[in-house]
Amino acid sequence: MAAYVEVKSLSKTYPNGTRALRDVSFSMDHGEFAVIVGKSGAGKSTLLRCMNSLTEPSGGGVEVDGRSVTGLSGRALRSARKEMGFVFQQFNLVKRISALNNVLCGMLSEMPTMRSVFRRFTDEERLHALDCLDKVGLADRAHQRADTLSGGQQQRVAIARALAQGPKVVLADEPVASLDPESARTVMDALRYLATEEGMAVFCNLHQVNLAGRYADRILGMRDGELVLDRRSGRLERDEVRAVYGAEMQEAFA
Ligand SMILES: Nc1ncnc2c1ncn2[C@@H]1O[C@H](COP(=O)(O)OP(=O)(O)O)[C@@H](O)[C@H]1O
Ligand SMILES: [Mg+2]
Repeated sequence: MAAYVEVKSLSKTYPNGTRALRDVSFSMDHGEFAVIVGKSGAGKSTLLRCMNSLTEPSGGGVEVDGRSVTGLSGRALRSARKEMGFVFQQFNLVKRISALNNVLCGMLSEMPTMRSVFRRFTDEERLHALDCLDKVGLADRAHQRADTLSGGQQQRVAIARALAQGPKVVLADEPVASLDPESARTVMDALRYLATEEGMAVFCNLHQVNLAGRYADRILGMRDGELVLDRRSGRLERDEVRAVYGAEMQEAFA
């Protein structure tokens, strides 16, 4: 049987000639929480963005649940994007509206506009959005304005917003990079929940190798646009750290 997520020979060369991805292939199962680590500039964000067609890959493709999600446009692209939630480092919430309204806007198939914020949602939609906030531990914050929540809470609203779309895959680009350690843990717990309880494939890019070891089922490592590590979770060995970060960084992580 085909894997749930299949990344096949993905490559990306930017117009300025930078080869950010070189023939990257891997697959993921339902309910798997994989973390990718690597130095700044290794190509992690490019990989996530190519997986979701936020950036057009130069070669290769991605399948989710047997269906290609790359090389699409128009309605087919929008439909494929709904299957992949994306969580950004800077949350990307609409600041002046409530947590609940942010989640509701994420459920719309078109890009949210200010007009959509004032749309009347059905009771069923509102209950679904509330349920998603509850799953990330924020039901009691539903009516609070997004920009008055803490960073960790805002990121969990962003995760609830992704969850509310009903995606098969959730991609998160440095979701805890702007957060203190305690908030980072609440966000990692929420991502872990999506994989374990909702059966989604969660793929997340992290700077912190220690968090990767604690939360991920699997750790991938990227260096200069290539996958150089793919292992079950646990503490990375010295030679693995060297493969990903190079000898000069090894002491910092060993
Ligand atoms: N839009 C772009 N145009 C040109 N080069 C880019 C662009 N985005 C990223 N890059 C380059 O691609 C490489 C990988 O970047 P990125 O995917 O952001 O790495 P990471 O997320 O691991 O830090 C880097 O050399 C970066 O400078
Ligand atoms: Mg990045």
